Amino acid sequence: MTINIYIPRDAGALALGAEKVAAAAREEIGKRGLDAKIVRNGSRGMFWLEPMVEVETAEGRVAYGPVKPGDVAGLFDAGLIEGGAHDLALGKPEEIPFLAKQTRLTFARCGIIDPVSLEDYEKHGGLRGLRNALEKTPLGIVEEVTESGLRGRGGAGFPTGIKWKTVHDTDGPQKYIVCNADEGDSGTFSDRMIMEGDPFVLIEGMTIAGIATGATRGYVYLRSEYPNVHRILNEAIDAARAAGMLGKSVLGSKYAFDMEVRVGAGAYVCGEETALLDSLEGKRGQVRAKPPLPAHEGLFGKPTVINNVISLASVPIILDKGGAYYRDFGMGRSRGTIPIQITGNVKHGGLFEAAFGMTLGELVDDIGGGTATGRPVRAVQVGGPLGAYWPRDLFDTPFDYEAFAAKDGLIGHAGIVVFDDTVDLLKQARFAMEFCAVESCGKCTPCRIGSTRGVEVLDRLKQGIAPEEQIETVTDLCNTMKFGSLCALGGFTPYPVMSALTHFPEDFRPAPVREAAE
Ligand SMILES: Cc1cc2nc3c(=O)[nH]c(=O)nc-3n(C[C@H](O)[C@H](O)[C@H](O)COP(=O)(O)O)c2cc1C
Ligand code: SF4
Repeated sequence: MTINIYIPRDAGALALGAEKVAAAAREEIGKRGLDAKIVRNGSRGMFWLEPMVEVETAEGRVAYGPVKPGDVAGLFDAGLIEGGAHDLALGKPEEIPFLAKQTRLTFARCGIIDPVSLEDYEKHGGLRGLRNALEKTPLGIVEEVTESGLRGRGGAGFPTGIKWKTVHDTDGPQKYIVCNADEGDSGTFSDRMIMEGDPFVLIEGMTIAGIATGATRGYVYLRSEYPNVHRILNEAIDAARAAGMLGKSVLGSKYAFDMEVRVGAGAYVCGEETALLDSLEGKRGQVRAKPPLPAHEGLFGKPTVINNVISLASVPIILDKGGAYYRDFGMGRSRGTIPIQITGNVKHGGLFEAAFGMTLGELVDDIGGGTATGRPVRAVQVGGPLGAYWPRDLFDTPFDYEAFAAKDGLIGHAGIVVFDDTVDLLKQARFAMEFCAVESCGKCTPCRIGSTRGVEVLDRLKQGIAPEEQIETVTDLCNTMKFGSLCALGGFTPYPVMSALTHFPEDFRPAPVREAAE
């Protein structure tokens, strides 16, 4: 029997040399005349172990990592294809604590299957959600998603079922499903990982969304920095179309749905849903005033569902196992699981899917293992460049939309960036203002002008010029931006700035003043 050897083609693994490892493995298989095949899977999401090579044995899979090209011949000498002992052997991947502690619903297949094989997808539970959806009425599908409690994973946490119901209830000769794959937040990669590791789950989720709302056409708006996703997603879409999963009659049903990928041009603001629509229409990406909501007048003025990749990729499991099953995970109004991305200065960086409710401290200290430098963790930023900085005394906060909001923070797209005690929070606050100034679409004054003034004020503070006055001015500016901006770029930039100022005031005292105080 041909033995499968799994070597990821996920961008994270490729960046760490997976292509060369695969070439070396291919050579060894040829040289030794082995009956083995290399499958290019997605990543399991433990990036400190990449490239991680797995081999299928009679007792299940055995993993090795991190593997360098120079290790490959030695691994074959040690009997890799029977799961032989070696210094790089990690045992069964699912027993590695980082993976064993997770609840993988959305990422259940990621790293396990061949991402572009529809057959493998189906063998591992794929298409069950779509088949169940085809047995229901469109409204029945919407109700199942509403029942699950799923909230948008793109950042705003808006209930997905309510959004779908609005599009379902809006008449229109043409409706659209738009998938937001712009993934602009710092420290986030869950969209990329699922699209590279299990693209059919997104295609299935978008198709279900189309059937539920009456949309027959879908677009994935993909950030230009993801060329690897572009290739894999297109390959999967072609395979889905060839197999009748997409097209005029989805799996032989009365429903039509087809989709394509469009690539963005590198503007952070184009992740904002209305700027995204402008960009998709071929215009310069600028935020639109609401109303009208995209659900009423979205792409080309037609009723449109816009959802994040993870929101859509979570739908197949909901339709497979039922809304109540999904809803059973989580806490409060944050239901189900969330793929948390742990990055920055951290020992065990990667993707950790868990039910809502784990504390920030558990995620950073226990799961992440503290900093990579071995120095104490001083701060973490959660939710991308518009997210708050958290000090250690707030590490008992559970991962839950409402608990985070109560402490002036946000979950956003669930990226955690870890910093050790060498971080300068004044510098980070300045960076937030500068980021906003650079990325502002320019439509409204508080954001366009406020962010530039913010950089100037923080520079004066750094120089020690009238510090109390600068702190008062930056606080005032933040209030204006928070309440006067048209979208969350200007509106949320105050979160990193004010959290840094509130929780780390010592960094906002320029050197001469601090010395005087000491
Ligand atoms: C400046 C800005 C950037 C955003 N970037 C993204 C992004 O990269 N990906 C994303 O899914 N949502 C992003 N959003 C949120 C979207 O506007 C929107 O809420 C989301 O696509 C809705 O999908 P969901 O309900 O599934 O989360 C951004 C919002 C703002 C204000
Ligand atoms: S807040 Fe900034 S990005 Fe948003 S609409 Fe106003 S100028 Fe544009």
